[in-house]
Amino acid sequence: MSFASAWLDLREPYDQMARDPETAIRIGAWSSGRSHLNIVDLGAGTGANLRYLAPRLRCAQSWTLIENDPELISDGSSRLMPDVEWRYRELDLASDLEAAFPADTDLVTTSALLDLVSAEWLDRLLHLLAQRRLPFYAALTFNGEIELHPPVEGDQEMISLFNEHQRRDKGFGPALGGNARDHLSQAIDFSVLPAPSEWVLGTKDGPMIVAFIEGMAEAACEANPSATPRILAWLSERRALAEKGIGGAFVGHDDLFAGDGVRLRAFT
Ligand SMILES: C[S@@+](CC[C@H](N)C(=O)[O-])C[C@H]1O[C@@H](n2cnc3c(N)ncnc32)[C@H](O)[C@@H]1O
Repeated sequence: MSFASAWLDLREPYDQMARDPETAIRIGAWSSGRSHLNIVDLGAGTGANLRYLAPRLRCAQSWTLIENDPELISDGSSRLMPDVEWRYRELDLASDLEAAFPADTDLVTTSALLDLVSAEWLDRLLHLLAQRRLPFYAALTFNGEIELHPPVEGDQEMISLFNEHQRRDKGFGPALGGNARDHLSQAIDFSVLPAPSEWVLGTKDGPMIVAFIEGMAEAACEANPSATPRILAWLSERRALAEKGIGGAFVGHDDLFAGDGVRLRAFT
């Protein structure tokens, strides 16, 4: 599955606002007193996680941005991030996950990735992190919760088709989609709690709402092609509302930080 740079750019400021500030403060506090961190970011896109986190960490940093899409690597590489050492590493995380973490890794991060992966892949990742007790920051994991305002006919059908599509294979096996947060928090030990990092979109966020509902409609058509006429009618009603600045949307995500290193519940 490929992600357009334009979509990642559009969502980045909303992601920045949505990220749980207390989790970010805890990561900043965790980093203080350390002289240097080697950070591995999984599914880095154009580097959104680095742009958010680097200024909040209180020590020198070297980032390795793992990404398998050459276009995103090229886009991300062309953006200056002058204060921090970083490099891209082109790697397919579905097949080569084990190769992602060099022995000197201090922190593993990811954003908006874990809902794309399968339960089996997520367990594989968590076991790797747990074996090495690696600290882990997972931001913006979609949790399946969507609300649209004002309600229009077809909302519930579209939300349910979208969530069904989210669980399709995105290159890692059948995806967890909206179940990723629960899978993650059931696997990791009780002391690590997910914190909400939802998008709350209002009347001024028309372009973001339109992009989101267009994505929902595209996914819904793929999930149930025979419902296409209904989906397009729903999209045109929703688009007209957003373009007039009426209503808004809520999209649920969660952030999680295991600062003492990942420990699996089965072993705690
Ligand atoms: C939703 S985007 C999130 C990008 C970035 N973390 C952000 O928050 O903007 C998911 C990212 O994972 C990358 N990705 C998907 N499958 C991958 C794979 N098998 N190996 C490496 N990266 C992958 C995509 O190319 C994309 O950049």
